[in-house]
Amino acid sequence: MSFTIAEQEKGHQNEVPPIVIGKLSISPLKESDLEDLLPFCEKEIGAGYYNKESLFELLCLSYHKGFVCSFVGRDIETNKVGAVRLTTIAGSMDTTQKGHTPEEWRVHPLEVGYFKSMFLAAEYQGSGIGGQISRLSLEKLKLQGAKAVLSHCSLSSPNGSSRRYLQKMGFTPVQEHEGFWADIDYLCAHCYKKPCTCKALEMILYL
Ligand SMILES: CC(C)(COP(=O)(O)OP(=O)(O)OC[C@H]1O[C@@H](n2cnc3c(N)ncnc32)[C@H](O)[C@@H]1OP(=O)(O)O)[C@@H](O)C(=O)NCCC(=O)NCCS
Repeated sequence: MSFTIAEQEKGHQNEVPPIVIGKLSISPLKESDLEDLLPFCEKEIGAGYYNKESLFELLCLSYHKGFVCSFVGRDIETNKVGAVRLTTIAGSMDTTQKGHTPEEWRVHPLEVGYFKSMFLAAEYQGSGIGGQISRLSLEKLKLQGAKAVLSHCSLSSPNGSSRRYLQKMGFTPVQEHEGFWADIDYLCAHCYKKPCTCKALEMILYL
């Protein structure tokens, strides 16, 4: 990376005041959030899914010319992390990985950003907050020049919430992938199995 995160944190994004959505204050992700973010991810996604290094790498892949496409939500009263939207910019995704079918996408793979993980703590789910935070990421991806964004939604999320919130945003299905997360050495917070047995639906939104 040719920039330092310290430079980035002095950059444009800190001039933007947080956006309040419901009981959450939403800000672009910063390096100083990662310490609080890791235990949140351990609980909501699963133990071992991320570590400090992989979260830092995602922060770097989320950065483009003074802005960050990923967001964190903190409770306005307690300041506890209650939401995360991890997004990587177009051109940063390894499309040779399993579960990616670029031949089905209508744009060049290098023009596709990635919705990596979106998690809300249970008390904030079901009020449309996931979509509102994700739209902040979409605005940044458009500024970056992305022509589409890809996501792998879990077909095991409660009441199909993952697929449903993406559908509401206009994502369309590409293909289902069995065992999409099975190669990751973590204990899934949804199926509670190791390896994870959750099935993913690859979905795409054209911007
Ligand atoms: C998926 C998620 C980000 C969606 O954000 P959200 O703000 O809750 O989205 P919405 O309020 O638009 O909910 C989408 C639908 O799921 C339903 N839903 C959301 N959370 C639910 C829950 N905990 N139990 C049952 N239904 C739920 C909503 O009622 C809504 O139904 P509708 O389509 O009939 O309106 C959020 O619910 C979440 O973090 N879920 C757990 C983690 C997860 O599955 N993440 C995605 C992993 S790929």
